Parts: sequence; structure tokens; C-alpha cells
Amino acid sequence: MTALTLSTAAASGLRADAIVVGVAKGAASKSGGLVVAPGAEAVDKAYDGKLAAVLETLGASGGEGEVTKLPAPSGFKAPVVLAVGLGPVPEKDETYDAEALRRAAGAAARTLAGAKKAAFALPVEDSGDAGAIAEGALLGAYSFDAYKESAQDGKNGKAPLAEIALLGAKPRDKAFKAAVERAIAVTEELNRARDLVNTPPNDLTPEAFAAVASAAAKEHGIKVQVLDEKALVKGGFGGILGVGAGSEAPPRLVKLSYTSSKADKHLAFVGKGITYDSGGISLKPAGHNETMKCDMAGAAAVFAAVVAAARLGLKVNVTGWLALAENMPSGSATRPGDVLRMYSGKTVEVLNTDAEGRLVLADAIAKASEETPDAIVDVATLTGAMMLALGNRTFGIMANDDAFRTSIHEVAEEVGEPSWPMPLPSDLRKGMDSATADIANMGERMGGGLVAGLFLQEFVGEGITWAHLDIAGPAFNEGGASGYTPKGGTGSAVRTLVRLAERTADGDLG
Ligand code: BES
Ligand code: MN
Ligand code: ZN
Repeated sequence: MTALTLSTAAASGLRADAIVVGVAKGAASKSGGLVVAPGAEAVDKAYDGKLAAVLETLGASGGEGEVTKLPAPSGFKAPVVLAVGLGPVPEKDETYDAEALRRAAGAAARTLAGAKKAAFALPVEDSGDAGAIAEGALLGAYSFDAYKESAQDGKNGKAPLAEIALLGAKPRDKAFKAAVERAIAVTEELNRARDLVNTPPNDLTPEAFAAVASAAAKEHGIKVQVLDEKALVKGGFGGILGVGAGSEAPPRLVKLSYTSSKADKHLAFVGKGITYDSGGISLKPAGHNETMKCDMAGAAAVFAAVVAAARLGLKVNVTGWLALAENMPSGSATRPGDVLRMYSGKTVEVLNTDAEGRLVLADAIAKASEETPDAIVDVATLTGAMMLALGNRTFGIMANDDAFRTSIHEVAEEVGEPSWPMPLPSDLRKGMDSATADIANMGERMGGGLVAGLFLQEFVGEGITWAHLDIAGPAFNEGGASGYTPKGGTGSAVRTLVRLAERTADGDLG
């Protein structure tokens, strides 16, 4: 784990492997030149004020995420200066926005893998900027090499940047300290969610996931309850049991309860935790199952958010529900045509065993409803249809309350997670009518993401505000790393959930 401290040291005297500075694209009206961002004045001076000119000669443009390395000026203890692009220079009277800072810090930290220490001299106007840079850097430094023997002995692969000194911040200022401590807590838990998503499914079974969650919960004073397969039978969790029926690794339902004595609101977060989605008897074809270890990313996000809320001591009660099962085909697996009796008492005809996420979530949402929380938010890699609609970086938000859906969209925007509000058109409900049961687990093909949302809505307790985040697109990055987003598990929705809990604690939300 990368260590991060606030420092008042001068860049020139710092013993480090590199000094990170920001550069931006100047306004087109002013000949479009490269601009050295605030925070790097001393570094620029040491180059006789020619840093921008040198970088331009090297081909730098200041574009977002662009990284240029050059030898440090003479007299500097660090050998290298790394210039990272911040995108366009802010408008007059504005400062660099938080997401530009996060992405630049993330790209710089990722480029510096293998280094021991770097000093970041990026523009810091206030504690919010320091928090954004810390967050981006700690997320960008992430790498997953638990399964690479070559990385373990240091011969191949590079260890993450070990230490970051953040310059330009005020180490003794309360607000700065709090912002950085928050960034550390949130990113540590978010990176743990990434680890869980990246862990291969032969190791991360529902039981193993539940054990990781229990250990973390105990460490942070969170109450934890794990329902094993026997308890699930006893409780009547037909959805979770039906999905897990084909696997040698039995399902689990984990409840994490963080409570604050100063809380007057209660949020319930519910996560889809399919540790591997083969599709079941409705088996996925080759090309569609290689990345299906990511199908527990919703549960990982919920887990991370609850632990982060506890570490931050938020004045809100947060209950996390992890609906964990492995979806496998076997002689004991649920068949297309089977009817499941769900926890809520409703019956579901399973027409496609690959529409399994909604089955485990339905049980967990119905269970979560019994405590009548102020709101339920479920998070799930639920449908390929949502990826077709919104692409690989944007999650869809559905809700039974327009204001709540808007709030979540705003919160996601604030933390730098792209999202978009989606409708729940009631005319799609009839497509799920079943001749045999109360409802089928599949409906019309068109609008498949919304159909899944409508299915879940049926299991939300009466009068409870509910939102559904379909993170199938952004949860797992099959492309290259960019900004603070690595390949593989991304930790999608963690920061949105944490911010939602913070805003709820502050009374900013209904
Ligand atoms: N886990 C998948 C959705 C998914 C697909 C997530 C690709 C991430 C990447 C989900 O369980 C699924 O298989 N959904 C089906 C539903 C259909 C059978 C109604 C889908 O979207 O095709
Ligand atoms: Mn599936
Ligand atoms: Zn799935």
C-alpha cells in the first residue's frame, strides 16, 4: 500500500525519485501554448523559467493524462521531473477541477511504479484539491500482482510507488488533514474492492468472500452476520439458494451493520455478489465468460463503502448486504423452467439461469426492507444491455423516486463517477408475466437493463425509497489503464456510495 504524507519541504531539497508537476493546455486565443500549473513555480524557476518551453520542445501539449519525463534541474536532490497533463487551463477566476487533479495524480502515480518516493507539486488551492490529488494518486498507484510469481521476487513487474509527499498543502491545518485522511480511508477500501474483483473465482468463493468481510468488519467495529447455506434454507432464501444450487461452493448472505450513536438516518446498500457467472444451465458462450469473476463487483463496492463509512465515523447507520453465490451448471443446478419461492414469498419462474443477479438481489432487497431503512441502494453488474446503452464507463441509475435518482446522479458526478438516470417504464412489466409463477426472471429483450430494474422493484418493501445502480459497464476495465483507473477491477460505485452516506449524515439529502 502506498504511503502518503503532507509536506512543506521545498522541491529542490527533497530526496525522492521524481518531482511531479502539472502542465496545462493554454487558451487557444493565447497561441495555445503549454502552461506550467501553480505549485511548480520553484521547479520552473530552477529551469530559468523555461520549463514550459522545454516541455513543448519535447512534444508535450498539456493534454489530460499525458506524461513527460525530463532530467531535474541541477542542484535538485531528485533526479527526474515528471510533468503530467491537466487538460485545458481553467477559466478566469476558476481553479483546476477535482477530477482533472485526480486523473493527473493517478496517471503520474501509475507511471512511477517501481519508484520508492515521489513528491507531487500539483496545484493545491484548498483542502478539497489536496484530497482529490491524494485520492487520484492512491488509486492510480494500485496494481494487482498477488498471482504473479515474477512480481513477487521483484525481477519482473514493478511494485507500486511506495511513498508520496504531497507538497503545497498545509500539514497542520485541520481541513487539509481531514481531507487526506478521508482519501486514505476511502482509497484503501476501494483498492480492497478491486483486489476482490481481481481475485480469481477458484479462490474467491462465496465462503471466502464472507470470511474476508467478517475479518474486516471485526477490525472496524462493524457488526457482521453470515447466513450459510443451512441458515439460508431455514430462512427461505429461495433466490440465493436457487442461483447457488449448481455450485460445489455454497452461497452466503452477509449482513454488515455499521451504526453511529449520532445517526438519525439509515441507509441499506445491497450488492450482487456472483463470484463467478458461467450463466448456469443457460451457459454463456466462449467469449462471454472469461471476465465473469467480476460479477461480484457490486458486493465488493458495498463492502468497501460500509467499511469506509465506519472508518470515517459517519453519523449515519449503514447496513451492507452481500448476496453471494456462484452460478454454475451441474446436475443440481436450477433449470430453465424451474420455479423458485423467494424470500418475500413471491414465486419466480426461471426462464434463463443467466439472469441470476436479479434473483439473489431480490432476496437481499426483501430482507433489507424488513428494517425499513430510509433508502435502499443496490449495486450490481446486472445486464449486458446496460453496457450497450451506456458504454464501458457509465453506470445506469434506476429508482422508484425521481428526486433520489437525481441526488445519486449528482453525488456520482461530484466524486467523478460517470452515471446516467434511466427510466423504469411500467409497460415492460407484462413481458415478465409467467403462466406458472408470479413473475418470470426474463422479459422483453429490448430495454433489458430496465426490465431487470423493474424485476428488482417488485421486491422493495412498500414505501421504501430505492435506487438500483447497474455497473456492468464500468466495474471491470478490459481496456488499458487511464488516469486513476487500472485494468481489471475498478472499484466502481464505491466513491458514490461513500459520498451518499456522507451527504445523508450531513442532512443534505431528504
Ligand atoms: N453478469 C451478467 C451481466 C454482465 C454482462 C455483467 C457482461 C458484466 C459484463 C448477468 O448475470 C447476465 O448474464 N445478464 C443477462 C440477462 C439476460 C439473460 C436476461 C444479459 O445481460 O445478457
Ligand atoms: Mn448472468
Ligand atoms: Zn451475472
